[in-house]
Amino acid sequence: MRTTVGIIGAGPAGLLLARLLHNAGIDSVVLESRDREYVERRQRAGILEQGTVDVLRAAGAGARMDREGLRHDGIELRYDRKRHRVDFPALTGGRSVMVYAQTEVCKDLIALQLAEGGPLLFEAEALAVQGVEGAEGVEGAGSGGPRVRFRHEGREDVLECEYVVGCDGFWGVARTAIPAELTRVFERSYPFGWLGILADVAPSHDELVYARHDRGFALLSMRSPSVSRLYLQVPDGTDAEEWSDEEIWDELERRFETADGWKLDRGPVTQKSVTPMRSYVHEPMRYGRLFLAGDAAHIVPPTGAKGLNLAVGDVVTFARALTYEKETGSAELLDAYSETCLRRVWQAERFSYDMTTLLHRTPDATPFEDRLQLARLERIAGARSAETDLAEGYTGFPLE
Ligand code: APR
Ligand code: PHB
Repeated sequence: MRTTVGIIGAGPAGLLLARLLHNAGIDSVVLESRDREYVERRQRAGILEQGTVDVLRAAGAGARMDREGLRHDGIELRYDRKRHRVDFPALTGGRSVMVYAQTEVCKDLIALQLAEGGPLLFEAEALAVQGVEGAEGVEGAGSGGPRVRFRHEGREDVLECEYVVGCDGFWGVARTAIPAELTRVFERSYPFGWLGILADVAPSHDELVYARHDRGFALLSMRSPSVSRLYLQVPDGTDAEEWSDEEIWDELERRFETADGWKLDRGPVTQKSVTPMRSYVHEPMRYGRLFLAGDAAHIVPPTGAKGLNLAVGDVVTFARALTYEKETGSAELLDAYSETCLRRVWQAERFSYDMTTLLHRTPDATPFEDRLQLARLERIAGARSAETDLAEGYTGFPLE
């Protein structure tokens, strides 16, 4: 098998990249280790920045999002039994976000790819990426071109490419093809995770609610006008089964409680799982003709809902750079890929870290730190400059 761009992984990064390349007249093959149903059901965050919405529309993948997605003009911060609404358009010159689940983005992109795009192979596991030598740049890379060895339908095969893009998530193999001596990893883990539920009940508030409480963080989000998505901060290593549905609702109620008598509506829980929290950046994001995109290169804690948006930024940057190379013969933008992406990645890392430490309670937090956290929240509620900084970060950092 032979193609221009070999894409490993059919999460949001790989699927959108295939679409962007198709639109630019560049062929690709997508290899995905899991089956279609698994990819379409995996629950992740569902907040699309304005820039992500624009990219999906321009790629011809925004029709259902525009019909079914929910435009949100703000979020609510809750602390000390008080509520403060952050008004995005007023603070950012008109920006907002779209609540449209990552599962739906994937479903739309898979349907388009199968109808109009190049090959998308499910249950095709990449085993190794080979022949990507070239720390100096794309031009200096091995003349034979990189190869992806993969297993599909019980046998091993090779995909010969001009470029390989590793969109294979945090647990993927692409990253391992970059020599360790050229790699730097920046990492932080947190002593807590999120216990998330999906529930068949209308969201109790029409915007997302981020709550800081002495018992820990809680988040109210939604999937549709009749499905709620809720999260509780839990200690690292918690098993979702340790919590009964009733205990979860009781704890959510405590953490969301306000002085003005706000009420949380309960409903049947249809899914329950724990998400670990980490910050992670792999530098560089390119080695020769191998490029990393999305979770394969970086992880953010979910508090800022940046994961999918960062993946979109990476693949847009790659698709533009490759289009430029095809049109002008210059590899300048491809060679700048890692630096270009990392500037935005680090802004998102900073924002996600700030949001996380603003709202979560670490097990060993001192009373001094508790007071500081409240002072930071009061500052956002009281000073337009601080509030604007949050609104700009939440609605997204522009693509270069
Ligand atoms: N071969 C083929 N596919 C693989 C391999 C492999 N060896 N290893 C992993 N994959 C697949 C996974 O099964 C998964 O479908 O790669 C895909 C990676 O997808 P994601 O983990 O969703 O990563 P990415 O596309 O970068 O997503 C970016 O969007 O889903 C949100 O918040 C989430 O931060 C994430 C972001
Ligand atoms: C979600 O809806 O799953 C979600 C929303 C916002 C976040 C994280 C997750 O910050």
